[in-house]
Amino acid sequence: MKIIAGNWKMNGSHENLNQMIKDLSSLETQNKVILCVPYTMLCTESGCIALGAQDVSQYERGAYTGEVSASMVAACGAKYTLVGHSECRAYHGDTNATVCAKAALALANGLTPIICVGETMEEKQAGKTMEIIESGVRESVPVDVKSDIIIAYEPRWAIGAGITPTDAEIAEVHTLIAKTLYSMGLGGTPILYGASVKGANALAIMSIPHVDGVLVGGASLKSDDFIPIIISVK
Ligand code: PGA
Repeated sequence: MKIIAGNWKMNGSHENLNQMIKDLSSLETQNKVILCVPYTMLCTESGCIALGAQDVSQYERGAYTGEVSASMVAACGAKYTLVGHSECRAYHGDTNATVCAKAALALANGLTPIICVGETMEEKQAGKTMEIIESGVRESVPVDVKSDIIIAYEPRWAIGAGITPTDAEIAEVHTLIAKTLYSMGLGGTPILYGASVKGANALAIMSIPHVDGVLVGGASLKSDDFIPIIISVK
């Protein structure tokens, strides 16, 4: 069983979501399908697909105009939320500490956080990938986690770029993440790969050791692109 998570970012409509739910409802798959959609679509009846938010506030409630709390997301019936997606780190200034606070509130409200970590092109070229990933995991995962979390490795330079790291690079990073989680008492935590996943590369990527699924941006928007990824592995 693999986890196939879609991230619609600021795309799509209620009509698109209802169509996607319909298209996926007849699929025969053991895989867990999650769709992280804009907040306005979170209260949709989603059948066998689990819905998730793309971010939650680091605060519980209060005077934080424009923010949406983990409890509000949970009240919609959503089960998951992304935290620390590279676009939130890049455009909203999220740091590992912010991401950790968001993940803790997600957990406190019964959501499974999908905690994203990844290196920029600059960091990669400076040979800092492993350092950034290890500190990203250690600092973004709350202490004393007692329920499920998911980690997503998203090489920031490859998101939406149509390029992916080599299989060996993905294997090296995922092995590091697995070892780091094990040392934190979180062995067995699912680790997703995300960035430029499509039907044509999904099976190869999900065959790499310690890749427990994928986080898909652009190719999760249309059933014609998303379904081949979901059924690429049994
Ligand atoms: P992409 O996005 O699949 O379009 O590269 C991945 C993501 O941002 O989660």
